Amino acid sequence: MIQAPGKLAQAPAVPHIVTELPGPKARAHLEFDRQWTSPSVPRAYPVVPIRGEGCTIEDIDGNLLLDFNAGIAVTSTGHCHPDVVRAIQDQAASMIHYSADFYLPIYAEMCAEMARIAPMKEKCRVFLSNSGTEAVEGAIKLARFATKRQYLVSFLGAFHGRSYGSVSLTASKAKYHAGFGPMLPGVFHAPYGHVADLKWFDEVLFDRLVPPDEVAAIIVEPIQGEGGFNPAPASFLRELRALCDENGILLIADEIQTGIARTGRMWAFEHAGIVPDVVCVAKALCNGMPIGAIVTRFELQERWGVGAHGTTFGGNPVSCAAGVAVMRTIEEQGLVANAAARGAELLTGLRALMAADDRIGDVRGLGLMVGVEFVKDRATRDPDTETCEALIQTCADQGLLVLNCGTHHNVIRFLPPIDVTAEEIATGMELFRAGLKSLPRSAA
Ligand SMILES: Cc1ncc(COP(=O)(O)O)c(C=O)c1O
Repeated sequence: MIQAPGKLAQAPAVPHIVTELPGPKARAHLEFDRQWTSPSVPRAYPVVPIRGEGCTIEDIDGNLLLDFNAGIAVTSTGHCHPDVVRAIQDQAASMIHYSADFYLPIYAEMCAEMARIAPMKEKCRVFLSNSGTEAVEGAIKLARFATKRQYLVSFLGAFHGRSYGSVSLTASKAKYHAGFGPMLPGVFHAPYGHVADLKWFDEVLFDRLVPPDEVAAIIVEPIQGEGGFNPAPASFLRELRALCDENGILLIADEIQTGIARTGRMWAFEHAGIVPDVVCVAKALCNGMPIGAIVTRFELQERWGVGAHGTTFGGNPVSCAAGVAVMRTIEEQGLVANAAARGAELLTGLRALMAADDRIGDVRGLGLMVGVEFVKDRATRDPDTETCEALIQTCADQGLLVLNCGTHHNVIRFLPPIDVTAEEIATGMELFRAGLKSLPRSAA
């Protein structure tokens, strides 16, 4: 149990106790960190977490913070969920690593569990790697290999990772490409978000650039994550599915941030009633143990011959044990339904706040993946990055951890664990409301 710091006599029911951020130990750690770690690692705020339990983290100075980041959509069943911890400990005590080039029972068990929750009606196959970006890399290779076509399409605003293939598909911020060109050849970026935008395929891509029978795959986030928490309308995803079917193009869903119950369904594309050909998963799958996965129709990966793709660490036994425990926990604790119910409360609270404060230009999302967009003017939607960033710091100072996203860093993302309680949502909302109220408009 995380204990409230002794100096505070009256601990609130939901811990969010901050005496000083950064406190003395955190300041000393920041100094140490600066000497050794790569400056490329972005740091959102001076929080130094050392322990976590459920929706709460404790920092190095004993501050308790309500974690509505869940380690960026990773610790979905809460920090150190006891069943997941037990599964990790048991597996680590018997075998930590051997490599998936050999038969490992827990690897196959993990794939079978994933196939059970997979959207494909028929049997499916699973390939395990180490991270989200690796899942996307594998999906690119599979799409080209299986279709014998070379072109790939992703969407403006998309984020698919930072290794060369996935960063070439990424188009949320120019900084991801800056200084790293040339990118992977054969990638196009389509406009995202409205059914009308899909005209681009016929009118621009297929008419002027490349024929449809040379396009291997279209990759889409059902809700753009890093790009600003932009949900694709169901009609958009359905039309996209139809466009892929008409042209023999594979539809890849990047469910790395949205997947595994986050949006109130196991998969976000279920809200649109579609089934992709390939699903990329990572983040929440193992509650913090590294993993990436590509789930496809059975016959699709059959086209991938032995040794076409592989990895030393991917599908590590300890990660797999955690993953099996995560999937069982979601089912046993009814966490898909909890994400939907708590998400509805979050949306309602944030929309009420928007009605009272015109610095909020939009509140959007599904389940427990909700974004709050800050604008200088609701009519022009001129981004208000300053208010957004000031509020994130203020929230941290008050004991609530949230992060930003969006091309202009003006969207606050809410990603609490999917087992968050109604009480924790209410406390988080209260801290957020108070934080916004405390920010003078001139601070913006
Ligand atoms: C939608 C999406 N795809 C891919 C990635 C890349 O995953 P990773 O950071 O594990 O490489 C992310 C990470 O934020 C993501 O949100």
